[in-house]
Amino acid sequence: MRHLLDTTDLTLKEIDDMISLSMDIINNGEKYSESCKGKKLATLFFEPSTRTRLSFEAAMLELGGSVLGFSEANSSSAAKGETVGDTVRIVSGYADIIAMRHPLEGAAKVASAKALVPVINAGDGGHAHPTQTLTDLLTVFREKGRLDNMTVGVCGDLKFGRTVHSLIKAMSRYKNVRFVLISPKELSVPDYIITDVLEPSGCEYKAVTSIEEVMGELDILYMTRIQRERFYSQEEYLKYKDAFILNGEKLVNAKKDLTIMHPLPRVNEIAYDVDDDPRAKYFEQAHNGKYIRMALILTLLKWIDEEADHTENMLTVNGIQCSNPHCISNHESLPHISKHTGTNGTFRCIYCETRTK
Ligand code: CP
Repeated sequence: MRHLLDTTDLTLKEIDDMISLSMDIINNGEKYSESCKGKKLATLFFEPSTRTRLSFEAAMLELGGSVLGFSEANSSSAAKGETVGDTVRIVSGYADIIAMRHPLEGAAKVASAKALVPVINAGDGGHAHPTQTLTDLLTVFREKGRLDNMTVGVCGDLKFGRTVHSLIKAMSRYKNVRFVLISPKELSVPDYIITDVLEPSGCEYKAVTSIEEVMGELDILYMTRIQRERFYSQEEYLKYKDAFILNGEKLVNAKKDLTIMHPLPRVNEIAYDVDDDPRAKYFEQAHNGKYIRMALILTLLKWIDEEADHTENMLTVNGIQCSNPHCISNHESLPHISKHTGTNGTFRCIYCETRTK
């Protein structure tokens, strides 16, 4: 049985196959209308969502299956102190596949260790959001006809923005993709994205603090919201909340075939006048989420009897407490385990990838 915790759980061929399947679903939807008859999807959302939860539910319904679940932690027994592991173990008896969102980083990994059915990470704190990335890849493919040979600008809160982490992990595996990381210095990508993802991939990348200076270079502009809920204080959030606001004026030097994306929700980082620009594709992007999630559900259910590839086989050490206050290992009774990442003797928490040693 296989789970989807991050895009690195999939080979490039598997991602490409899923995109092809989504394209077939888009063009021949009726062919799939009974593909999941008798199957149930549980959506366990311990954190708010519009797109991810509803597109997962719409996806399963369009495949002829049914859905059950909850949309906030308070309406589940988590409010009484039940652990993630116990919750998914119970729900494994009620559903054939689980999509789970949780505010703690590494929650999906913990769930996958206890569940008896496939677990899909629908966002774990500021760590990863692989189904958003699959949505993004389908959008880029539909807009550009390719996933390689392009310059991708990611802009906003690159520290806490989980969609950006998963997107860089995935797109850095395609040929000749160059990244421009646009953020205030304090909100730059976590160090593992540089040392364990971008540098080993050989991708060209640069970090800048202004969007105007790089606009003309970009094929994709991926805007993100400043993630208020991940900041340690309201005061700190207020310092950055207006850091980048994309408007028509800032697009003057942009390429004619630029694709403007955003995982949404937006707060104020894209002015409403940009919505009418034909290069704005964020609403189409959100709609693509349903098709790729249909493809993902079909694929994971098809793989249910397949052994997961445990090639991780990495050197681990026990007992070093993770310093990340948002890591699940600091909230539930779990062993503190770090894995060797192969970069200069670095060890990282197996749940959230924070450097521990
Ligand atoms: N993009 C995204 O994850 O949106 P929701 O939080 O509405 O699911």
